[in-house]
Amino acid sequence: MKPPYSTVRLGRLLPLMLAGAALAPHFCVRAASGQQVLLAYDAQAKALLAKMTLAEKVGQMCQPDQAFLRDPDDIQRYFLGSLLSGGGSGPKNKADYTLKGWTDMVDVYQEHALKTRLAIPLLYGVDAVHGHNNIPGAVIFPHNIGLGCARDPGLVERIERATAEEVRATGINWVFAPCVAVPRDVRWGRTYEGYAEDPGVVELLGAAAVRGFQGSRLTRPRSVVACAKHFVGDGGTAFGTGKGLDGQGLDQGDTRCNEATLRRIHLPGYLTAVQAGVATIMPSYSSWNRLKCTANKYLLTEVLKRELGFEGFLISDYNAIDQLDPDYRRCIALAINAGIDMVMLTDKYPEFCRQLTELARTGQVPMSRIDDAVTRILRVKFAAGLMDPRRSPLADRRLQRAFGGPRHRRLARQAVRESSVLLKNARHTLPLAKTVTRLHVSGKGADDLGMQCGGWTIDWQGKMGNDVPGGTSILTAIRQAVSRHTAVTFSRDGRGAEGAAAGVVVIGEKPYAEFMGDRADLAVDQEDLAAITNLKRAGIPVVVILISGRPLYLEPVLAQADAVVAAWLPGSQGEGVTDVLFGDYPPTGKLSHSWPRASSRLPLDAGDPGYDPLFALGYGLTYGP
Ligand code: GLC
Repeated sequence: MKPPYSTVRLGRLLPLMLAGAALAPHFCVRAASGQQVLLAYDAQAKALLAKMTLAEKVGQMCQPDQAFLRDPDDIQRYFLGSLLSGGGSGPKNKADYTLKGWTDMVDVYQEHALKTRLAIPLLYGVDAVHGHNNIPGAVIFPHNIGLGCARDPGLVERIERATAEEVRATGINWVFAPCVAVPRDVRWGRTYEGYAEDPGVVELLGAAAVRGFQGSRLTRPRSVVACAKHFVGDGGTAFGTGKGLDGQGLDQGDTRCNEATLRRIHLPGYLTAVQAGVATIMPSYSSWNRLKCTANKYLLTEVLKRELGFEGFLISDYNAIDQLDPDYRRCIALAINAGIDMVMLTDKYPEFCRQLTELARTGQVPMSRIDDAVTRILRVKFAAGLMDPRRSPLADRRLQRAFGGPRHRRLARQAVRESSVLLKNARHTLPLAKTVTRLHVSGKGADDLGMQCGGWTIDWQGKMGNDVPGGTSILTAIRQAVSRHTAVTFSRDGRGAEGAAAGVVVIGEKPYAEFMGDRADLAVDQEDLAAITNLKRAGIPVVVILISGRPLYLEPVLAQADAVVAAWLPGSQGEGVTDVLFGDYPPTGKLSHSWPRASSRLPLDAGDPGYDPLFALGYGLTYGP
């Protein structure tokens, strides 16, 4: 018979707890400042808790993906407190994959929740990680790696405020963002979801994102509940310990470092997010020194809740608790006793509710832990205005007037401009003139909004040729930017460019997300190199635009190109790239990651011994002398 759940972990945690206690004075900053808002609702939350049955409490701690609901009536049957749409989890009929279809879907679920005895509304969560990227017609902003190169907290705050407005327009009230990972090895498929390898950039922009999402008050009709993720050290895993590349990758792997390093590099983003008032935090699939974060009581309860003063609630990642143990009941106990307050899952919600009820009845999960979790969840719901009887939790469809509108698209265009990094500009090739007789455009990314937006766009993985209504490809943007006397020709492979004033080739990575993007080799693909060579053979200046979720091995590109711009994953507004190309905006972006050589030993981060990147962290050219 295995010992009770909590002691199994304690035995392994003791050394860490002693280490943590020794270090705590150096790092113990009770960041309760931004959390006071949540505490202000403690009495109301506890008063409601006192009325709740055990079944109703357990239901508040359960968050199924809506796609796995057997019947919407299960919301009442299990008193569910939350639902999510994971990547691509939208209306069942593709014809309903519209702003109206999504909004109708979410409202129907909310109406089911309002039919329960206590009528506690749902928190409905979605990954809005670069705009409301699930809905056709939404404005798709640059992914975080580009925003990290802009280093503009005001811009990030405005972007997330616009995103929050588009999210609330669909009746959704919770976003699983910002990702405050500190990606240290760019072979990680989630590098682009983080802002930078530098914790200082991450803490600055992560807090700005929380302010943008949650607004000056979480009760505002345009505010959404934010979620800092993935706690902690998700960007520091060792290559070969992860889930991707047949277990040879990094994603969901093991972060192997001492506590001082974990705190110095991977904790700052959470400290400033908590200070900014973030209401939810998502623990990581990954491990710290072989212990899953989802079951790490020291990190979740001692450090995050007690030391940092986090008063919101912890949402586990998608079926993450299943990874804790072969026995599902034990998974639930380990996660909840470690400090998880709400569990994100798929089809096992009936079993989850039954098992957690049993665990509470037998004391293997103390009732005090259940009450603490539900109090935290209810505090957030009160703080978000969901419990205000004067307000409906259904979608405010008046907000749909701004959805995908020109104001948000102008903001996205500005973000694309500011995140672009000029890496090479021989003989002042850039900026290009708009009045030349002819420009030749090529490359697989020139006219592909799917590639331009990258992963987490409409589908979980994104895809080439994605339909992104309202978006502008780089080729279209070039055609719109030049004079009416300028011819713009196109060939994907770069042939036929002879006679043009210059050639522009858009190359890079096809969309991916999470472990599907783990890579051992960061070489530019052969099709892209061939297109550059074909342009070069035409005897004209060659401008390369790189669309990628991370630095790639650029030497063969630099050998042929006259100018190179890193545009990252710019999103729907390709006009921001041409603003830089034609000099309407001199490039200001500075690298948020060290750029490795093909020969570099990875991971490669500023401060490493023998640091010798192709381009250093913070590098970026501009126009003029
Ligand atoms: C995913 C990701 C997480 C996301 C969640 C819900 O697996 O790890 O970032 O928020 O599931 O889609």
